[in-house]
Amino acid sequence: MLTGGGDCPGLNAVIRAIVRKALTYGWECVGIENGWKGLVDIYTRPLDINSVSGILQKGGTILGTSRTNPYKIDGGEQKVIENAKKIGLDALIAIGGEDTLGVANKLAKTGFKVVGVPKTIDNDLNGTDYTFGFDTAVNIAMDAIDRIHTTAESHHRAMIIEVMGRHAGWIAMHAGIAGGADLILIPEKEIKLDEIIKVMNDRDKRGRTFSIIVVAEGARISESDQKEGEMILQDQKLDAFGHVRLGGIANVLAEIIEKKTGVETRATILGHIQRGGSPTAYDRVLGSRFGVYAVEMVKAGKFGRMAALQGTEIVDIPIEEAVSSLKLVEDKFYDMARTFFR
Ligand code: F6P
Repeated sequence: MLTGGGDCPGLNAVIRAIVRKALTYGWECVGIENGWKGLVDIYTRPLDINSVSGILQKGGTILGTSRTNPYKIDGGEQKVIENAKKIGLDALIAIGGEDTLGVANKLAKTGFKVVGVPKTIDNDLNGTDYTFGFDTAVNIAMDAIDRIHTTAESHHRAMIIEVMGRHAGWIAMHAGIAGGADLILIPEKEIKLDEIIKVMNDRDKRGRTFSIIVVAEGARISESDQKEGEMILQDQKLDAFGHVRLGGIANVLAEIIEKKTGVETRATILGHIQRGGSPTAYDRVLGSRFGVYAVEMVKAGKFGRMAALQGTEIVDIPIEEAVSSLKLVEDKFYDMARTFFR
């Protein structure tokens, strides 16, 4: 098994579950270290029952992770296939998000025996109602919003809280609703600056002298009807999957809002705090269910497929379906949340 992409609370629950379930079939487990990098260069470690003991409650991944994309390395695909043979892998369980599973999908098309487990705090993988790690991230963000609420109220300030979410605003929506945000800004719904100012002014008229705005890092805000909003980038560097580094929209927005309204405004960027630390009970259970199911998939020869949560059941779907497009916040859910934007 390997874990790739950004780390995520619950990864160790999946690893532990895979090893425990595989042992019931008498199979031997190998951990590939640092995502696809460990198969391009061969970094492995044996995983037995003792090596996965005491890891359930730990954040991160005991196997390490990376954003290595074998398809961006000369002869990368071949190296992965040959190295898997050298190690003696009968099957691989790839635990990751759209990038890691995108690689798994391409490999599966060559006949490589791989099954996928959906991981991302962003919850933006198609075909699964939830990915593990999302619930933990939402709870961390909600706790932060609760704390920021009391200081915002005391100081009569506007507070902008930036959460993760490049293309999808799931964390912002869930944490924002749960934390009682007065406005939630997400990548799926570009918003005009005037609309933000209006919510703040309306609150002021009602005697609410503070505002809580939750913004996803990939949200876009347009200053006028004519101009399209732009993403705020930390720098121009791209990773191996072509992603830019986002972050900083809260700072930009805070400055503009303060200038336009005269209300003292502060920004908090939660960043990697959302990804670190212990998983919630929900993520531990979901990760454990995915891990056990992934082993069943290997046993049944369901390669090129990914474990997914649909309703209350764990099922399997083609990896292709999960990675071909992103699961975005639907209009219906956003419109419901608008009830609270005031
Ligand atoms: O893919 C998950 C994610 O949390 C995104 O929301 C975020 O943009 C990205 O990872 C940042 O990760 P890193 O700083 O590790 O590149």
